[in-house]
Amino acid sequence: MTPEKRLLVTSALPYANGDIHIGHLVEYIQTDIFVRFHKLMGRDTIYMCASDTHGTPIEIKAGQLGVTPEELVSKYNQEHLADFTKFGVSFDLFYTTHSPETEHHAVAIYEGLQKSGLIYTKDVDLVYCEHDQRFLPDRYVRGTCPKCDAEEQFGDNCEVCGTTYDPTDLVEPHCSICGNPPVRRMSKHYFFQLSKCKEQIAGWIDADDHVHPTTANWLKGAFLDGDLRDWDISRDAPYFGFKVPGETDKYFYVWLDAPVGYIGTTQKYCDDKGLDAADYWKSDDKAEVVHVIGKDIAYFHCLFWPAMLGHSGYRTPDRVQVHGFLTVDGTKMSKRTGTAVTAKTYAEHLDPQLLRFYYASKLGPTNADLDLNLEDFVNRVNADLVNKAANLASRAHAFVTRKLDGKLGDADAEAKPVFEDAATRFEAIGEAYAGFEFAKAVRLISEVAELGNKYFQDRAPFHVIKDDPEEARRICTAAMSFVKVLAILLKPIVPEMSARMERSLGLGDLAWTDLAFDIQNQDLAPFERLADRIKLKAVQKMIEAQRVAHEAAAPAESKAGADDGPWTPKPVADEISFDDFAKLDLRVALVKEASPVEGADKLLRLLLDLGDHERQVFAGMKAHYDPADLQGRKVIAVVNLAPRKMRFGVSEGMVLAATSPSGVFVLGTDDRALPGAKVS
Ligand code: MSP
Ligand code: ZN
Repeated sequence: MTPEKRLLVTSALPYANGDIHIGHLVEYIQTDIFVRFHKLMGRDTIYMCASDTHGTPIEIKAGQLGVTPEELVSKYNQEHLADFTKFGVSFDLFYTTHSPETEHHAVAIYEGLQKSGLIYTKDVDLVYCEHDQRFLPDRYVRGTCPKCDAEEQFGDNCEVCGTTYDPTDLVEPHCSICGNPPVRRMSKHYFFQLSKCKEQIAGWIDADDHVHPTTANWLKGAFLDGDLRDWDISRDAPYFGFKVPGETDKYFYVWLDAPVGYIGTTQKYCDDKGLDAADYWKSDDKAEVVHVIGKDIAYFHCLFWPAMLGHSGYRTPDRVQVHGFLTVDGTKMSKRTGTAVTAKTYAEHLDPQLLRFYYASKLGPTNADLDLNLEDFVNRVNADLVNKAANLASRAHAFVTRKLDGKLGDADAEAKPVFEDAATRFEAIGEAYAGFEFAKAVRLISEVAELGNKYFQDRAPFHVIKDDPEEARRICTAAMSFVKVLAILLKPIVPEMSARMERSLGLGDLAWTDLAFDIQNQDLAPFERLADRIKLKAVQKMIEAQRVAHEAAAPAESKAGADDGPWTPKPVADEISFDDFAKLDLRVALVKEASPVEGADKLLRLLLDLGDHERQVFAGMKAHYDPADLQGRKVIAVVNLAPRKMRFGVSEGMVLAATSPSGVFVLGTDDRALPGAKVS
C-alpha cells in the first residue's frame, strides 16, 4: 500500500437479472469495510461499482418477461442499489456497463489489442437452434456427457465426471430454451491471443502482492503451467451488448466489456466531479487500483484482465483480492430450503449491522470459503458485539445520565495503564484492516472492549458513588474514552452503530487520527440504542420466510432446483411391501389420439387403447410434448386409479413419466408389447 496515492476500489459488478443474496454480500460488505477504513484514515478513496448488464441470460429473460433488456437492467440496478444501501455498502457510484463511457473504453481496449496484433478472426463450429434462431451458449445446450454418459449435462463441462468439452461433443444435445435438437453451424468469431500474453500475465501475478499467494499458486497450477487458450471475445446476434467495430451483427462477449465497466464507471464519476479518469486508469503513479472478487471469477480478473489492460495502453491493477464462497450451516445456499436469503428478506428480519460484524469476524485474506453457521452467528454477535462494546457503552452512559447529570469530568488516573495496554493494539488493527484480515481486526477490537469492560467492572463506579461521586465521574469518564475509541475502531465494520456511539457521546464524525483515550468534561447526549441481542428463533423465522417467498415466486423452479447447483435425484421414498406394489395395475397403452385441451395451459387429452377397451386420460404434458409426437406411441398407464372428474371431462388413469430439470419424459416399452399387457 502506498498511502500517498489515491485509491480506487471495486467490487465485482453484479449481474442485473437476479436478487442480491447474503452470498453476494460477503463481497460487498468486505469491500465496503476496506473502503471505509481507508476513508477513515483520510485517504482519497473512491469505491466504484455497476450493474453487469450484457449477455444472453439477460437478453433471454427480458424476452420472456416481455420487456426490453434496458428495462430489465434498470429495474435490477435500482433494486440492487437499494439493497446495498440497507447494508451500509457505500459506493461513490453504482453505475451500469450499458453506458457510453463503458462502450468507449471497451472499443478503445479492443482497438489497442488490435494494434498490438493480438486480435484475429476464425470460423468456429457452433451449435445453433433453428427454432429459436440463435447460437446456443454452453449453458443453453444440454445433453449426454461423451465421456461418462451422464445425462443432462451443460455444453461446457460435465458436472459428474468433470470432463470439459465443446457443446458439439455432447451426445443427443438439445436446446434448453425449446428442447429441440440444435444443428451445427459455422460462424466467424473474434479471438484475443491470450497465448501470447502468458509471460506478461505470469509476471503480473508474481509481482508485489498483486494476488494472495494461495490464489497465485492456484492460478499457476490451473492455467499458467499449461498453454493458455486464446479467448473467443465475440458473439453473434441476437445479443445484448456492444457491437464489434465494423460489424453489424457481432457483439463483444459480455466478459470483454464487464470489467471495462470499472473504467466506464470511473469515467462517469470523474466527468461528474471534474476529475480526470486517466489519473486512475492510464498510469499507475497517481492512484492504486484494488479489485475485490469471488474465486469463481478469478481467472477473468487475474488472467484476461491484466492482459487486456497491459496490451492496450491502460495500467494494470495493484491488487485483485479474491474471497471464497459462502455456505450456510456447512452447505451450499439453497433456494429450496430458504438458506439463499436475499438481502431484502434479511433486512426485513434482522439488523444488517450484525451481518457485517459476523462476516468481518470470519474474513481473512485468503480465498477460503466461509460458513454462516446460524447458531454461531447468534452467539458471536451477542457475545462480541452486544455484550462487549454495546454493553459498555450503554451501562456507562445510563449511569452517567441517571446518577451524574450526564456530565463527564477528568479521567481516572488509574485508567492510564489500561489505556496504554489497549492502545498497543491500534497499529495492528489498522494493518489488519489494510490487509483484508478482518477477523484479526475484530479479535483485537474485542480485546480492547474486554479491557474497557473489565476496567469498568473492577473500578465499580456504582459502589464508589456512595462515598465519592466525583471519583465515580472520573471512572465513567475513562469508560467513555473506551467507548469513543471503540466507535472509531469499529467504524469500518458497523458504521451505523459507531455513528450512534459518537452522537450519544455528544461528538461529531470521528476519524482514525482521533484515536485517543482523551474524553474529558464532555456533556453526554441522549443515548441511542446500539444493537439488540438476537435469538436463534428470529434467524429461523427469516429462513422460513425465505423458503416460503421462494416457493410462492417460482414453485416449478424450486422443484427443479434450478439455481441450487447440480441437480440430484430425489431421495428414495419409504419402504413399501410387495403387496402394496402389487396393488398398482400397470398396463401397456397405445396412444390413439393426443390433442391439446382448450382452456388448459398444461394439459393434453390422450385417448388410450388398452386392447379390450379405450379410455381418456388428461396428462400435464403440453409443455413437454408435441401431441403429434405422442400419437402412435406405446406408453405405460396406471389403470386402476379412481377416475377423476376435471373441468374438461373425466380422467381415467395416468401415464407414467420421469421428471428431471430437462423436462418430462413418458415411459415406453418395446414396440412388440401389445396394448393391455400387464406390467409387473
Ligand atoms: N457479473 C459478474 C462479475 C463481473 S465483474 C467485471 C458476476 N456477477 S455475480 O452477480 O454472479 O457475482 C458478483 C460477485 O458476488 C462475484 O464476485 C461472486 O464471486 C460473488 N458471489 C456470488 N455468490 C457468492 C457466494 N455464495 N459467496 C461469496 N461470494 C459470492 O460474477
Ligand atoms: Zn431452441
